Amino acid sequence: MYKLTGVTKNYQKGRTTVHALQGVDLVIEDGEWLTIQGPTGHGKTTLLQMLGGLDRPTSGIVDFDGQDLAQLREGQVTKVRANSIGFIFQTFNLIPTLSAEENVETALVPLHVSAAERRARSARALADVGLADRANHLPSELSGGQQQRVAIARALVKEPKVLLADEPTGNLDEGTRDEIIGLLENLWRERGLTLVLVTHDSGIARRSQRVAVMEHGKLSIRQDTRARGAASSVSRASAPASSVSGDATPLTG
Ligand SMILES: Nc1ncnc2c1ncn2[C@@H]1O[C@H](COP(=O)(O)OP(=O)(O)OP(=O)(O)O)[C@@H](O)[C@H]1O
Ligand SMILES: [Mg+2]
Repeated sequence: MYKLTGVTKNYQKGRTTVHALQGVDLVIEDGEWLTIQGPTGHGKTTLLQMLGGLDRPTSGIVDFDGQDLAQLREGQVTKVRANSIGFIFQTFNLIPTLSAEENVETALVPLHVSAAERRARSARALADVGLADRANHLPSELSGGQQQRVAIARALVKEPKVLLADEPTGNLDEGTRDEIIGLLENLWRERGLTLVLVTHDSGIARRSQRVAVMEHGKLSIRQDTRARGAASSVSRASAPASSVSGDATPLTG
């Protein structure tokens, strides 16, 4: 699915340069669930933006199914995004003046499906996340957990190959958080999605197949519970994060 090679990203801030990504090598297999953890400001969101074609690296290759997102023309990247990549964010990012169903429909506009089909698919996507009876509600008339469900429906209505989630439970209480993660886990399992999830929550990380840690713009694999055969193709360019202390959680239980 993805093969990243030597990916760097610098941001110019006045006279100083922020080295947000400092040479990331990473292979993500079709259908895997990779969780990315790490301290604030160390490059997690920047990496997701590269995976999603939302921004381009300063150098390096972001191979997505044989195409380098770093090199594609803008129109082509937009197409890949519209067809193949779903996003969810900590702040839900729903359009406040549109109903739940209309928010979901926005994902289908670039795909040129008919209005009738847009409605039908959006209704189905909302039903899939348990919100059939809230289709006409505005975001302000929904709880945080419900808003995130709408955002998940919007991300999945186009049936993408990949779902990129940036701290999707960061704004939710504990019970709602478990609900949303349970929903994502089911969708991942049932649909064969590739799920890349950024979280500060070690409990969530423990449920995923593979955990990587992003520190100072460098990524290292901390845990891999996939079958041994599948693990052989994983990029081992970075050493295991045995030196990571502080937020290292014992992986027992
Ligand atoms: N558009 C930008 N312009 C300048 N600097 C940026 C920009 N976006 C991010 N940065 C810087 O790049 C670094 C990495 O930011 P990033 O958002 O990827 O961190 P993060 O790991 O997602 O943090 P958090 O856990 O707080 O979300 C930070 O030092 C940040 O200040
Ligand atoms: Mg971030």
